[in-house]
Amino acid sequence: MKISVIGTGYVGLVTGTCLAETGNEVVCVDIDENKVQKMRNGEVPIYEPHLDVLFERNIKAGRLKFSTSLSEGLEHGEIIFLALPTPDDGDGAADLSFVLGVSEQIGKIIKDYKVIVDKSTVPVGTAEKVQAVIAKNAICDFDVVSNPEFLREGFAVDDFLKPERIVIGSSSEKATELMKKLYKPFVRSGNPIIIMDEKSAELTKYAANSFLAAKITFMNEIANYCEKVGADVDKVRIGMGTDSRIGKRFLFPGIGYGGSCFPKDVKALYNSGKESDYNFAMLDAVIKVNQKQKTALIPKIKAYFDNDLQNKTFAIWGLAFKPETDDIREAPSLYIIDELLNNGAKIKAFDPEAMENVSNKYGDKISFSKTMYDAITNVDALIICTEWSIFRTPDFEKIRKNLKSQVIFDGRNLYDIQDMEKEQLDYISIGRSNAF
Ligand code: UGA
Repeated sequence: MKISVIGTGYVGLVTGTCLAETGNEVVCVDIDENKVQKMRNGEVPIYEPHLDVLFERNIKAGRLKFSTSLSEGLEHGEIIFLALPTPDDGDGAADLSFVLGVSEQIGKIIKDYKVIVDKSTVPVGTAEKVQAVIAKNAICDFDVVSNPEFLREGFAVDDFLKPERIVIGSSSEKATELMKKLYKPFVRSGNPIIIMDEKSAELTKYAANSFLAAKITFMNEIANYCEKVGADVDKVRIGMGTDSRIGKRFLFPGIGYGGSCFPKDVKALYNSGKESDYNFAMLDAVIKVNQKQKTALIPKIKAYFDNDLQNKTFAIWGLAFKPETDDIREAPSLYIIDELLNNGAKIKAFDPEAMENVSNKYGDKISFSKTMYDAITNVDALIICTEWSIFRTPDFEKIRKNLKSQVIFDGRNLYDIQDMEKEQLDYISIGRSNAF
């Protein structure tokens, strides 16, 4: 099939590349000329495991092309994916100006039938708005469908190629059939393509992300309470998660959820509730609890050092909001860095992928180390913010020898309490019995 993808951010690029992988002819459009030129030369502009291999293969095969021309993209594709940014508009709602701006152009340009697919995470009612904006100028038939993405950063290629479900919001039989045909190769395992109306599809995305964010937040509250009463959240988590109604996944407590999706989507759903005169009291709590959780290690660090962090140096392992990405948007590490700097502390940081992004933000306010062990030389203590695999089995002897105070503050609960006792290191984590 002939497909166009408008917007080559993280979602657009993964969508375009993976659709080319099943033999479709894909044109990806972006207004950034420099980026388009680089992509034509085979350069992947984001870090996403396995994307480079698929990218190269499909460019070589001539199935994946790039353009700066919206008209070219619209002429090429029978199905047009809109993968445009919907940033926070400053008031916690999704800014639709990119989506509606491009829709306006689409109405003026298209000359034959197209399926316009909303892939961006957009508030309920957006498909309707897109439909109306295109219809203002369109001289041909078209359909607008909602097809939210459920890709996790770091696993996006795998999630796209083997989705647990595809959600399609469509009220046109013709568009539905084309979408089913497009996605057929991805659901051979028997996982469902779920067809519903556009509004329900739009809400499914927000509801799914908000539910997961709430699940994590609930566990973070249980963890905080465990610390008060001397229970161990790891045991509680396993005890709860084995109930298949609850499930084991997304129950890991820590220093809060971050990234470009959960924080933005929970706020956007909360705010769209307000617009419809509905108060999502639970989401309000999720937002507040998560914000506080990001700095949950700070009082523990202060207590350990008798409230005096002035000129203490801390090593930080992990800056990205989660492993396998260089994304630092809403990363808990940033909130911890700010608090430490405000308290007069110094920081030596290491992250396998995200150091450049953090350095762009902080300049020389913090220092960066080439390796995880360089980061712990001559520091007072170690703080872990992201659960990269490389941090899971470190050389504890090296840690012991380097730290001036024999203590690790772990925001991701990477180590067993008993192992840390054997290693003779003070170990302060989240929701476990030795919490400081
Ligand atoms: C999330 C969803 O998982 C995807 O399904 C969705 O498509 C995507 O948002 C999106 O809307 O685009 P992502 O933000 O990439 O994906 O990351 P997750 O792996 O879901 O993690 C989100 C945050 O929750 C991270 O900060 C992670 O550290 C935290 N988390 C996750 C926990 O604190 N505990 C857990 O048990 C799981």
